[in-house]
Amino acid sequence: MKQTLFTRAILRRFAFACTLLLFIASFNAALAQTPEAEANYQQCKACHNLEGAKLIGPNLAGVTERREQDWLIKFIRNSQEMVQSGDPIAVALYAEYNNIPMPPHNLTDEQIIDILAYIKNGLKVAPEFAKPEPSNEELAAKMVLAAQIEAEQEARLQRLQDLERDANRNTGTIFIITLIILIVVIFDLLVTKVIKAKFVHTALILIGVVVIAEIAYKEAAAIGRQQYYQPDQPIWFSHKVHAAQNEIDCKYCHTAADYSKSAGIPSVNVCMNCHHQVKEGKITGTVEIAKIQKAWESGEPVQWVRIHNLPDHVYFNHSQHVNSGKLDCAECHGQVETMHEVMQVNDLSMGWCLQCHRKTEVQFANNGFYETYEKLHEQFKSGQIKKVTADMVGGGDCMKCHY
Ligand code: HEC
Ligand code: HEC
Ligand code: HEC
Ligand code: HEC
Ligand code: HEC
Ligand code: HEC
Repeated sequence: MKQTLFTRAILRRFAFACTLLLFIASFNAALAQTPEAEANYQQCKACHNLEGAKLIGPNLAGVTERREQDWLIKFIRNSQEMVQSGDPIAVALYAEYNNIPMPPHNLTDEQIIDILAYIKNGLKVAPEFAKPEPSNEELAAKMVLAAQIEAEQEARLQRLQDLERDANRNTGTIFIITLIILIVVIFDLLVTKVIKAKFVHTALILIGVVVIAEIAYKEAAAIGRQQYYQPDQPIWFSHKVHAAQNEIDCKYCHTAADYSKSAGIPSVNVCMNCHHQVKEGKITGTVEIAKIQKAWESGEPVQWVRIHNLPDHVYFNHSQHVNSGKLDCAECHGQVETMHEVMQVNDLSMGWCLQCHRKTEVQFANNGFYETYEKLHEQFKSGQIKKVTADMVGGGDCMKCHY
């Protein structure tokens, strides 16, 4: 009797433990290998392979077996903190990988566990999330579409450039013809005197002066504007190679776009994070990458040619647009990731800024940032206005854009 009671108690505990384990396991399965892990892993791809040839950092196959989960979570979040605190494994890895710091990652514990499960599963999402493999026909159709889009973009750019060139040529022709007419008229007025009525001279001279003044004014306003500017750079740095083919995030290099006025150009130290290891490119061989090494050794900054440049009297802030306004870089800079060499695709004129401010809605309701706009809130609530655009909350004030 006693014996059975004891056995039952054990059995009950055992059953409880099993249920608990099952519960934990199913919880973990729900966290593991989701599409979010796949998306987050994109930031790791430039530096880590699973197996085969090593990139900047170690291959990650088997990493969940060779390290503790807690260690991995801390290390992936901020490896340098661990190196500095003297963690022996982190210190040894750092030395083994030529003191290349792995950048910190702003990820939660759950996100990191999810990524680790994704790595353990051979970089595949769990079966319930897996997309069916596209058929060859679908793949071919996709490639044709991509090629079409690229061709269309190039054709559009070409057309715009042609239009701009034609417009410039026409302006030049009008300018010269007007100048010739002016000279002939003045010459006739003073010397040949073929035309007797003086008011004809006066009228023609007046019209000529107005036309020339207008052309001069327009040209002056456009000075400093440089749509389609695409200068050669001191190092052949390709956004297509880095941002598209190697899927490096824009903000990996232009870190400041999120929190400051300027997006910033990365220093050679950032390039060296990877180019300590990557010494050769498929397109330029070793020539261009050697220039990075040289700049790094000499400590002289690379003299990048500035492309986008507003006049001094205009105030523009990246974080306002990228962080608060949630705009994509492409809205203003075009598809930079398709360009080997960056080209300015918008003219950055006042009209361009205002046009977007007039059409782009801001997140107005329940946004503390816009609480001061009492009158607008009243009109919004009463339904008098349906949407609030950027120009209604300051994006149309001269003083917000001009110093
Ligand atoms: C700029 C390159 C770079 C990026 C991006 C990067 N890593 Fe690393 N990673 C390294 C380097 C280099 C090391 C070697 C340790 C060191 O130098 O500090 C490393 C080490 C590691 C290790 C330890 C491996 C071992 O054998 O113990 C793990 C795990 C790891 N990285 C995971 C990740 C994950 C996950 C991501 C993306 C969220 C990521 N890394 C993004 C460069 C990078
Ligand atoms: C690996 C680093 C790196 C990445 C990733 C990167 N850039 Fe750049 N970017 C640079 C460097 C270096 C320059 C300066 C040389 C040049 O103009 O090509 C630059 C220049 C630019 C410029 C022109 C700056 C000027 O002078 O006006 C724009 C715009 C730009 N990047 C946007 C982007 C966008 C958008 C992305 C993401 C799709 C991106 N970048 C990703 C390094 C990077
Ligand atoms: C996160 C890693 C990473 C960073 C940061 C990085 N690169 Fe690269 N870069 C690569 C990889 C990978 C390749 C090799 C592409 C290939 O296979 O051709 C490459 C290739 C190149 C090439 C040769 C391109 C070719 O195909 O010939 C040049 C030049 C270059 N990078 C310049 C730079 C400069 C300048 C910076 C800093 C502004 C920089 N890179 C930052 C990863 C990086
Ligand atoms: C609302 C339009 C807009 C958006 C969105 C935008 N930019 Fe810009 N960007 C500009 C303008 C305008 C300039 C010229 C600023 C100046 O001359 O003061 C510029 C300049 C730059 C420059 C060169 C000068 C600098 O600021 O350091 C870089 C690099 C750049 N942008 C990258 C980016 C990246 C990366 C993103 C996305 C994260 C982005 N931009 C989003 C409009 C935009
Ligand atoms: C692609 C659309 C777009 C373009 C182009 C654009 N902006 Fe904006 N801008 C916005 C949006 C959206 C906001 C509101 C952001 C927010 O929600 O805080 C904004 C806000 C602003 C503000 C802040 C107004 C305030 O409330 O204080 C200023 C200043 C500004 N933009 C200047 C410029 C200048 C200068 C240019 C041209 C060089 C420009 N913007 C081009 C979309 C744009
Ligand atoms: C959304 C931002 C924005 C607002 C609001 C704005 N401007 Fe501008 N303004 C610009 C930019 C950008 C330029 C320079 C662009 C260029 O070269 O055409 C400029 C240029 C100018 C110029 C120089 C002439 C020229 O064509 O280059 C004058 C004058 C001017 N603005 C006056 C004003 C006045 C007056 C207001 C208020 C009614 C105003 N701006 C509101 C962005 C703005």
